[in-house]
Amino acid sequence: MKLPLSITSLLLGMLASPVLATATRRETYKELYRPQYHFSPAKNWLNDPNGLVYHDGVYHLYYQYNPGGSTWGAMSWGHATSRDLMHWTEHPVALQAQGFPGNITEMFFSGTVVVDEENTSGFGRRGKAPWVAMYTSYYPTEQVLQSGKHVRKDQQAQSIAYSLDKGMTWTTYDAGNPVIAIPPAPYEDQYLEFRDPSVFWHKETRRWISVISLAKLHKIVIYTSRDLKQWDLASEFGPANAVGGVWECPSIFPLSLDNGKKVKWVLLLGLNPGGPPGTVGSGSQYIVGDFDGTAFTADPESIHDGGGPDDSVVFEDFEGDESFAARGWRTTGNFTGASPAKGTLAGQNPVTGFLGEQLVNTFLDGDATTGTLASPSFNISHKYINFLVGGGSNLNETAIRLNVDRQIVRSSAGSDSESLSWQSWDVSALQGKRAGIEIIDNATGGWGHINVDQILFSNTRATDNVANWLDWGPDFYAVLGFNGLPRDERTVIAWMNNWQYGAVIPTDPWRSAMTVPRKLALKTIGGKASLVSEPAGEWKALTHGGRVFSFPRVENVRDLGRLGKTLEITLTFSSRQASSAEKAEFGIALAATRDHSQETRVGYDFSTHQIFSDRTRSGDVSFDSTFASTYYAPLAPAADGTVSLRILLDWSSVEVFGGQGEATITSQIFPSKNAVYSRLFSTGGVTSDVRVRVREVRDTWR
Ligand code: FRU
Repeated sequence: MKLPLSITSLLLGMLASPVLATATRRETYKELYRPQYHFSPAKNWLNDPNGLVYHDGVYHLYYQYNPGGSTWGAMSWGHATSRDLMHWTEHPVALQAQGFPGNITEMFFSGTVVVDEENTSGFGRRGKAPWVAMYTSYYPTEQVLQSGKHVRKDQQAQSIAYSLDKGMTWTTYDAGNPVIAIPPAPYEDQYLEFRDPSVFWHKETRRWISVISLAKLHKIVIYTSRDLKQWDLASEFGPANAVGGVWECPSIFPLSLDNGKKVKWVLLLGLNPGGPPGTVGSGSQYIVGDFDGTAFTADPESIHDGGGPDDSVVFEDFEGDESFAARGWRTTGNFTGASPAKGTLAGQNPVTGFLGEQLVNTFLDGDATTGTLASPSFNISHKYINFLVGGGSNLNETAIRLNVDRQIVRSSAGSDSESLSWQSWDVSALQGKRAGIEIIDNATGGWGHINVDQILFSNTRATDNVANWLDWGPDFYAVLGFNGLPRDERTVIAWMNNWQYGAVIPTDPWRSAMTVPRKLALKTIGGKASLVSEPAGEWKALTHGGRVFSFPRVENVRDLGRLGKTLEITLTFSSRQASSAEKAEFGIALAATRDHSQETRVGYDFSTHQIFSDRTRSGDVSFDSTFASTYYAPLAPAADGTVSLRILLDWSSVEVFGGQGEATITSQIFPSKNAVYSRLFSTGGVTSDVRVRVREVRDTWR
């Protein structure tokens, strides 16, 4: 008899668990893809790091964990500890979903832990300082809680629990939970998307601060408390910068700027989806500003106004009183004598996303309006022409076009939406040519109009999700720092996965790992306070066998042969001029097979000044259509003209740190073998002064 699949897997699961339980740790941590020096749980699903806290020489890592399987569910807090941020010991689940393994009545979503030294909460006993966790309770059903509070189905609310044995076992505060039941007025209706409190002690005001996200509104709310139980709303912040998806896992902390006296505050935010340009799904952004114990205010330099790249030359922004004709544009049809529009026109849904007061909006007499607007001619001077466009999506009828030698060489349209967004034409191959831009509207039916603004010439592509990205790769999310470290020390860990494909990565019996712990610092780079990161912890003790290769010149490829399986590679080389016509790259290809049919390429693009990590042929990429991609992060060469990359390679991940750590790219990879054959590559010319240092990283599960 054939059993239905679900029952078969249930039975298999029952058979498998006793086997797993007796398996030694050593065997368990040798599976294909198993991270050798990154934290992953022995089995089951993991997501966000939670409750990171350092106390008495021990780092505690709690994390979103499903005790019952290897996809998201029954959210609980798993627990692991380490003395060096490298070797981790997994402990029993710290906060287990209520009702598990039966009907779940409460899940424990993300949050943080503080050590309440002065026993402000009163949870302490016999002189023992309580540890307090603040987390989001998620209630799958409507219910009346022990505290007498009534919660609705799918409500998210903030609760606390305490521990009197230094974080090993926890008691929920049933008499008072949830301590913040609903979002503040006027956002009460956001009770389904209200989560991820991050708590810390603010010395100056002698109060606890909790930063919580109103995920869908792209806002954070800041609360203060004297006892961790009674919370008062202090302020709100947002939206700002990238808002492509929900805002999750917010936190704020101080850091000195350039190691000096000046202290700035940094807001970290998870964004899902809407991550860095070129990625799909989750990302982590930051904003630099100040915090006075009540409110977070952003530095203007850290906020992006939605405008184009800094190096843009404005060709036309459609501001000012002149008609199109007075600006030198030729007009036909209904546009004869017309002028730019002041935003939304009569009978039109609200038009958003344009800059300043005016734009081209061809809804003059509604969708029936037709005609052409043709710009004065110009020389193509930059690599890109960027513009904001919205309205109809028909490329033949409502479009913006580039004409060269009376040929249409580029054309773009809106996406049947009144919201304008950036598009750009790569015109590097047309530089020096004479050209003209034409905006056409030949359509009279639904979406028979086009909106255009901000035509800019620039050497950088304009994108909508402009933000300060803490990592430019696809697998760095829900980043959180440790409480309990000295004031200027900020060590963070992120979930090394992405909600886009997190549930289907091909690992078993665990799913997801953490990034290496990273130490953050704030440095002025390109005139802006920027976060830089480097691997934290005792790397020297973990690495061995340093091999160094030096090459005055590398042209095409240079084989380095077979290296260890888990590596720390430092790559330094001179930057060079690149002609815009051909690709000019240098880097290292890390292959699982001698013939390099499966490889991950990490390198630098000299023409765009970007580091990149290319996993298109890295191994198993089949489980998600967006996985096989290349990721880029901007990095200017150092003052001495060199570029350096530090690459951490584990069995299923590549973390790249560029320059001083201002550009990092974190990506998972799933090669079919844990072997590394490597070679250097140089395209579009010779790369000089190349130095490669390779060290093996020890397995931390021994
Ligand atoms: C972020 C997140 C949090 C939530 C948790 C649930 O990855 O969605 O907002 O608390 O995961 O597991």
